[in-house]
Parts: sequence; structure tokens; C-alpha cells
Amino acid sequence: MITAALPYANGLKHIGHLAGAYLPADIYVRYLKSQKRDVVFVCGSDEHGTAIPIQAMKEGTTAQAIIDKYHPIIEQNFKDLSIEFDIYHRTSAPIHHETAQEFFTALNNDGELEVKESEQYYDEETKTFLADRFIKGTCPNCGFDSAYGDQCEKCGKSLSPDELINPVSTLSGQKPVKKATKHWYLPLNKHEEWLREWILKEHKDDWRANVVGQCKSWIDGGLQPRAVTRDLDWGIKVPVADAEGKVLYVWFDAPIGYVSATKQWAIDNDKDWKPYWYDKDTSLVHFIGKDNIVFHAIIFPIMLKLHGNIVPSNVPSNEFMNLEGDKMSTSRGWSIEMDDYINDWIKKENGGVQFADALRYYLTQIAPETKDSEFTWKGFQDAVNSELVSIFGNFVNRTWVLMHKLTNGKVSKLHDELLDEADKKLIDDIQKSKVKIEDLLEGYNFREALFEVIDLSRKGNKYMQEKQPWIVAKQLTENPETQKQIDNCLHLCLQLTANLAILINPFLPNTAKKMLYMMKVVDKMLDWENAGKIKLLSVGYSLREPQLLFRKVEDAEIAEQLEKLKVKSQKPKVETTNTATVANQPANLKSEIVYDDFAKMDFRVGTITSAEKVEKADKLLKLQVDLGFEHRTIVSGIAMHFKPEEIVGKQVTVVANLAPRKMRGIESQGMILMAEDKSGKLHFINPEGKIDEGSAVS
Ligand code: MF3
Ligand code: ZN
Repeated sequence: MITAALPYANGLKHIGHLAGAYLPADIYVRYLKSQKRDVVFVCGSDEHGTAIPIQAMKEGTTAQAIIDKYHPIIEQNFKDLSIEFDIYHRTSAPIHHETAQEFFTALNNDGELEVKESEQYYDEETKTFLADRFIKGTCPNCGFDSAYGDQCEKCGKSLSPDELINPVSTLSGQKPVKKATKHWYLPLNKHEEWLREWILKEHKDDWRANVVGQCKSWIDGGLQPRAVTRDLDWGIKVPVADAEGKVLYVWFDAPIGYVSATKQWAIDNDKDWKPYWYDKDTSLVHFIGKDNIVFHAIIFPIMLKLHGNIVPSNVPSNEFMNLEGDKMSTSRGWSIEMDDYINDWIKKENGGVQFADALRYYLTQIAPETKDSEFTWKGFQDAVNSELVSIFGNFVNRTWVLMHKLTNGKVSKLHDELLDEADKKLIDDIQKSKVKIEDLLEGYNFREALFEVIDLSRKGNKYMQEKQPWIVAKQLTENPETQKQIDNCLHLCLQLTANLAILINPFLPNTAKKMLYMMKVVDKMLDWENAGKIKLLSVGYSLREPQLLFRKVEDAEIAEQLEKLKVKSQKPKVETTNTATVANQPANLKSEIVYDDFAKMDFRVGTITSAEKVEKADKLLKLQVDLGFEHRTIVSGIAMHFKPEEIVGKQVTVVANLAPRKMRGIESQGMILMAEDKSGKLHFINPEGKIDEGSAVS
């Protein structure tokens, strides 16, 4: 039972996410499937929690519209990168709501949850309790001033709203008050003993050090009861009578999404889902990024155990992947979205699917398995050009070209009696590589496993270079026997190619497929048990013309990507993925603000009661504006556009809480909003028809 963290359907996902969880999971699953092991690979959208309504606020739409927009895009992005889930589900599905509620009810009925009343932050203006991302403040750990109530995005520390310094409501920008509310808690502290035994002893060597380390510091820090419900209107209703307005905490429901996805998969495929979650022989593996460790290695296992399910055998978690010297972040524009990569590299050209493999290759080669790593476009270019093209692709291509030239496009005979040291060493290398790669994959060492595959093709090149069949061929007319040497060399190179296809398949499935086509063999040849064998292609079998496996990445393409990143990180972030909309954005949009920034501004409708020119300032008019509750003097730079007498009586929109400012000795107590059209002409922003002075604009 393999899971990959359910991404929040609140925006596009970047290649750091891909490298962290989805790609390693996919590689592992492809490997297991090539061994014909009984495996289900589930993922899907995480559609609850405060992240979704917050994005809705930013985009000026509803939470439902947000998940309906991003779920299909993310799903398609994974497909385009050949991440092949057995199901890509969503937590808004009814079957998930039922499953999560059943889970909660079971734990609650068994007395495994505690109900407690406590004081929590509350926003009086919006009448909302401020859970998780609805509250922001200064991080007590690193001092970042926009840390969320559940986590600091800067330093990654998990937080609770009470830990924030100077908390403010994300919804209104107001200072919150405390208000009593009731919640259900999972007492993590009651489970300390078995967690210590299970993680810190049993799995201390087979789980990654970063995972064991994080768990240890959580456990040593003292586990606390953790609320599993929230006062929110977006989410799964708490299935008890006295829980009006309460939903399950997103981190309670989301991992249960793995179970509900399995159920849906079973329905779709006429299978039984239960063994995958109850059978003691099942191995459950969660692929995640490091910010998800505590949820998958401590909290969800407690839930699973209490519910009678199996607990994970491993939780392979990666560290973070940086980008060109800085932390990857979609909101700062410092990221490469999967969607962008797909458009620029895969969809742009015919046969672009090789670039799905190229990205998979580079991301695996720099996988942050033990420490943070770094994506650079130059590194990407080098990986493609000097490894995929020059080593792996080159070996396969040379073999094919020579086979067509020197052995009639057919698999030549192997003359056993003529096998020399170099031949035997190559055969040995093939067998050894298989064993080594298998060990590495079983241990979740994807990066090294991939290195071994490339290294085997490097050995193929070396062998070819030593044998030089194109030189040997020159002696053919004098000595026809030399054909046997050529036969042996190309026979072994072809068998090596078949092996390379099997071994590269989990990593670069599109490349493996192309190689199958060239060899005119069926998918079955890719079964893992065939690796290490040197009788995969039969003597006399005729093979197709070579196909280009990879093309070089040009300097200009890299320069273009670097430029694009630069522009993107400088440009205000546009909250949409629709490229048409992006293209239509007016130039020079100011940089992004959050709702709190906007909420700080107070706009009011006022009426201009008098206007006069300001002496010695041709641009300025001194206005008196009636705001209903008071009169204001406002100095405005509109004298070149309007005569004083023609604007008296007009209604205008005033920024009413702008700090006063002296202009030409006159204190200006506000500002008037104006729109400037293409020709440079100014227009008042005023209500349609006259309305009460002092009306708020928002
Ligand atoms: N949506 C979470 C994130 O992006 C991951 C949820 S994983 C699950 O960090 F287990 F809860 F599903
Ligand atoms: Zn921090």
C-alpha cells in the first residue's frame, strides 16, 4: 500500500513537491509492479483546511470553485510527468466524508478522544474562530512576521496560534480576542511508550535519519493532546450531535484520504480494499516531504493503531529542494511549477515526452534524500547533455547503428568459445548491477540506484570502445573469422541494452518504452526478473532503426528559463494559472498584497463641497469634502484636468484613513481615488447615482 502526500488543491504544485514525494513514490511503485508484487498506489487532492478558503479569498471566489479549479490541473500535471497513480482521488468526495466520519466516530466511541473546552482566538469582526492559517503573527522560533497559526513557512516549525507573537486575523486584519470553545482532542501523550519502542528502537536503522530524528525530538519534547476538530465551515462535519459549526481538523481527515482512495479504487476495479489496510502482511509506505513527518510518523499511526489498522513500515521523507540558490516558493515567484515545465518542455515539441524523463532524471539525480539539495537550470542541462545524451543515449544509439551496419540489423550469434575477459566482465557487470540496484531501491536509495543504471551504460560505452567493432570490420575481407568477434560484441551490447531498458524503466518509463519499440519486444520483457539475464533478445531477431532517446538542451533554452524565473520573481504574483489571463494582465501590476493589507484601507464616499486652486501650484486643487461624519480638507493633484467650479457637488471615493500630509503648507486629510484612462485623462471613481456621504467602499 503506497501513498504519496495529498497535495492541497489551493494552487499549482512545483517541482520541489514532485521531487519530494511523488517522483520517488512513482519510481518505487514502478519497481514493485515490475516485480509483479500486489501493490496499490494512491494519491489525491487535499481539499479541506484553511488553505482552501484563504486561496478563495485571494482569488475572489469560493472554496468550492478553488478545489474544482486546481484538482483537475494537478491531476493532469502528474499524468504529464508520468506519475502513475492507481487512483487520484479527492477528499471532497462523499465516500471520503463517510470514511473520515466513521473513523472519528469509532475513536470517539472507544473513548480514545478527549473533549475539552478552552479559550481560542476569535475575530469579532468576522465572527470566526481563528484556527491554523486564519491567524498570522511573528514566529517565536525565527522571527518571521507572517507565520501561520499552524506553521511558520519560513523556518518550517509547527506552531499553535497561542505561540504567535502579535497575532492578527488573516480574515480582517484585526487583533483577535479569546473566546471559549469546545473541541475533541487526540491524546498523543498516551501513546508515547509504544511510539518510542516502534520508531526509536524498531525502526531506528531502516527509517531515514531525518525522520527518526524529527520523531525523537517530538517525543522527547513531550507529546501533547492535539485537537482534531475546528470551528470552521469548510470541511467534514464532526459527526456528533453537539458539534454545530465544527469540522474535522484537516490533518485528521486528509490522511484518511488514503483509505477512502483505496476504497474507491477497489470499487472501480472490483477488488477488496480491506487487506491493504488491515492485513498484517501488508507493507504500508508513506512518501512525503519533510514538513509532513510528524503527521505520518506519529499522529496518523496513532489513529491507525487505535482504529485497528496496520501502521506504516516506512515513511520515506525527503528534505527540501532549493532553486538557483534560494528556497523554492510559489508565492514569491521563486519556483518552477510542474505546469510551466510541462508547457515549456513537454508540450512544446513533438516527442516532448522525453523531457518528462529528463526532469525525472535530474530530480532523482539531485534528490534531497539526506539533505537539502539544489535545482539549477545549468545542472539540468549538464545532466541531460553529459549523461542522458552522451552516456546512456550514446551507448544505445551506437549499438543500434553498428548493429544495422555490421550484423544486418539482427541480433547476432554469441560464440561462447570466443568469449574473452572483457566480454565476461561485461556479463558480470550486468548481473552485479541488477543486484545492487535492487538493494538500493529496496532501501529507498533512488538517487544511488539511478547512478548505478547510468554507470552500467557507461561500462557499455567503455566495452564498445575497447572492442571497436568498426575497426575490426576493416579486416573482414582478409579474415572473415573476425565477424565472430563483431557478433559477440554486438550481441552483448544488445543484451545490455535490453537490461538497461528494464533497469531504467522505474525511473524513465518513456525511455524504456522507446527502447522496447526499437527492440520490437513486448512490455513483459520489462519484468524485473529479466534483469541480469543475457538471453533477452533471440539470435536472428531483426530490430528496428534507432530512435533518438534524448536530444541536447541548448544554452539558449537555459538562458530563457533563467530569464523567465527572474521576471516571474520580480513580477507581482498573479493568482491564476490560466495563461490567457496572465498574458492579459496590464503591465506594471504592483506586487501582491494579502487580504490583511487590503483590509487596512478605509474607503468612503464623499461629496466635494468646494474647490479652489492652490497658489503657485498649477497641479493642485484644495477641496472640501463632506464625508457625512466630518468635513475634510484634501489637496489633490487634479488641477490640470478639472476646473474648480465643474467638480463642486461631485461624489468621490476617499481614502479616509490615510495619515495627514502637508502640501504647500496645507494639511491634506485624505486622498481621492481617480482612474486614468489610456489617453491620460482622469475620471472620478464614484457611485452610480448619489448615495449617503460616509458610505464604506470595500
Ligand atoms: N496537504 C498536505 C500538504 O500539502 C499533505 C497532506 S498528506 C495527508 O502538506 F496525509 F494528509 F494526506
Ligand atoms: Zn519561523
